[in-house]
Amino acid sequence: MDMHLSAPPIEVTPDDLVNLASRSAKMLERIRTQMLQPFPRKSPPIFPSGKLQELCGIDKARFAYLIKKGELPQGVQEKPGAARQFTLAEAIRWVRAERKPYQRPVGRKGKVIAIGNFKGGVTKTTTSMVLAQGLSLRHGRKVLHIDMDPQGSATTLYGINPHAEVTGDQTILPVVEAYVNGEPYSMKSLPQETYWENLHLIPSSTDLFNAEFMLPARVHASPTTKFWNVLNEALDELRDEYDYIIIDTAPTLSYLTINALFAADGVIVPVMPDTLSFASMVQFWSLFSDMVSGMRQFDDGAENMKVFDFIDILVTRMKTQTKAEASGARRSNASVVRDWVISTYGDRVLPVEIPDTTEIARTTTTDFSTVYDFPNYDGNAILFRRVRTAYDQLVDLIDSKACYLWDKE
Ligand SMILES: Nc1ncnc2c1ncn2[C@@H]1O[C@H](COP(=O)(O)OP(=O)(O)OP(=O)(O)O)[C@@H](O)[C@H]1O
Ligand SMILES: [Mg+2]
Repeated sequence: MDMHLSAPPIEVTPDDLVNLASRSAKMLERIRTQMLQPFPRKSPPIFPSGKLQELCGIDKARFAYLIKKGELPQGVQEKPGAARQFTLAEAIRWVRAERKPYQRPVGRKGKVIAIGNFKGGVTKTTTSMVLAQGLSLRHGRKVLHIDMDPQGSATTLYGINPHAEVTGDQTILPVVEAYVNGEPYSMKSLPQETYWENLHLIPSSTDLFNAEFMLPARVHASPTTKFWNVLNEALDELRDEYDYIIIDTAPTLSYLTINALFAADGVIVPVMPDTLSFASMVQFWSLFSDMVSGMRQFDDGAENMKVFDFIDILVTRMKTQTKAEASGARRSNASVVRDWVISTYGDRVLPVEIPDTTEIARTTTTDFSTVYDFPNYDGNAILFRRVRTAYDQLVDLIDSKACYLWDKE
């Protein structure tokens, strides 16, 4: 037998485990101040007049006419004759005036959209953030983003350190606590304003993990409890206030994820075009369908059956084709898997693909940001534009679905 061990395996006794635990706690104590630094505050993007025109779908002449008319924000000029710059809030006012987005009729509820896939790293958080930003920017919507992943990745995208700057009572944990204790609770005070106009956040922190113990304990004490309906019920009072409530979920079928999916009108499932991701989708569907069917037995009748407005699959992180692949001489694994996804899920696959942005990530120095945070990005400009266009299409597609539903309901 070929053995190249530089040292033999080290046996672990219970005392060793205690020692390891104490060493890691001591280490954490030492690095805590570093971990608990607040993040630098994020600022919203600034729009030069060219970008504003693009956003509103107007030409230079119309822009000049509207500036002269003086009814819309004028932006600022560094000196007379220089290009105008607009804040995000100003840009949104221009969008509302010029794009005239369909208004959600009074009495129609906002749409809850959960981003889910039990596989990790498939861009759930990024997709949720881009949707939240894009819906407010491109369609003037009022949006609430709920971070339901105890890891708090969505929270970090707002420039908030989930370990240092968020306490459990700012997350949706009190909703769960109140439910478990059989007390009433109003979610109205939870949404926080963020650096982004018209986009509010209910952040997450590691405390949210506690929900994963509280809910099963409650189920144990009273087995007929509708543990999946906690968020759905509590969200009701916010559905009038927001056009969209976007929920980011953890990559597990946890009690929180079940609550997010059950509260959702629409679900977006990002999937990466590789064989392993395709295979894990099979498990996602089987667990998801078990979950929804399992709840049926508790329902009082057909009218209580959970029906989703849509469940869409989003192919994401598509790598740019090589020359050989583009000419048809060779097929990339990604395009093969993408075809499997389409032939399996047909119309449920969104007609837009998100390109892989690894190249961009390498050239940007700013963490915690998305394509909507930099309207003037000039690094890898061609790829940036492709990604931005793809996300614009995604945002517009989702908004047109909601408008259709608001109009029809
Ligand atoms: N289009 C893209 N191309 C390449 N990398 C991307 C793309 N979108 C997001 N990423 C990066 O991929 C990583 C995973 O993305 P993200 O955190 O959004 O996934 P996730 O599904 O939420 O992960 P988790 O399951 O851990 O919650 C991040 O580093 C993110 O910056
Ligand atoms: Mg995530």
